[in-house]
Amino acid sequence: MAKIGLFFGSNTGKTRKVAKSIKKRFDDETMSDAVNVNRVSAEDFAQYQFLILGTPTLGDGELPGLSTDCESESWEEFLPKIEGLDFSGKTVALFGLGDQVGYPENFLDAMGELSEFFASRGAKLVGAWPTDGYEFESSAAVVDGKFVGLALDLDNQSGKTDERVSAWLAQIAPEFGLSL
Ligand SMILES: Cc1cc2nc3c(=O)[nH]c(=O)nc-3n(C[C@H](O)[C@H](O)[C@H](O)COP(=O)(O)O)c2cc1C
Repeated sequence: MAKIGLFFGSNTGKTRKVAKSIKKRFDDETMSDAVNVNRVSAEDFAQYQFLILGTPTLGDGELPGLSTDCESESWEEFLPKIEGLDFSGKTVALFGLGDQVGYPENFLDAMGELSEFFASRGAKLVGAWPTDGYEFESSAAVVDGKFVGLALDLDNQSGKTDERVSAWLAQIAPEFGLSL
């Protein structure tokens, strides 16, 4: 089993694309393939000590899933399957995709929801990211003046994605025992 589990939810494929680009940088021993969270069992998910998790925000600041008109299940349906698990001793890094121009009042809210979910179950959240370079009104993903994970906006700032992903991976590498 790979050391780090890499899971994502996605509706139109952008979060999937970013997840795949993250996996490309690591070998199979280090990181699992990028797997849609609607294709993993709670048991398999729970085996990883290190997790990188990605989500878009849909609806008005919601997790992706059937109630936000996704074609298939996603985080909304997966979280209830793992709500009884204890994530103590596990390290979680989040990346979120959103649209700061179209949804400035709910920018990346779903990443905030994932952060609360895992932190309240004992996980160590790493990879907080500065809010400089983004323009929005409010976000449930901002805690103590920083995003709780990597903030990506492929709708308006797609050209910044690669450099942001690289800088963020370098930032979290020591927490995951990674060499880049
Ligand atoms: C119907 C709809 C609702 C959205 N709501 C939000 C939102 O509340 N906050 C936000 O930051 N982005 C919002 N977005 C933007 C998406 O998060 C963004 O386009 C993302 O890249 C989609 O990722 P995906 O292709 O992996 O599904 C919304 C997009 C759509 C189509």
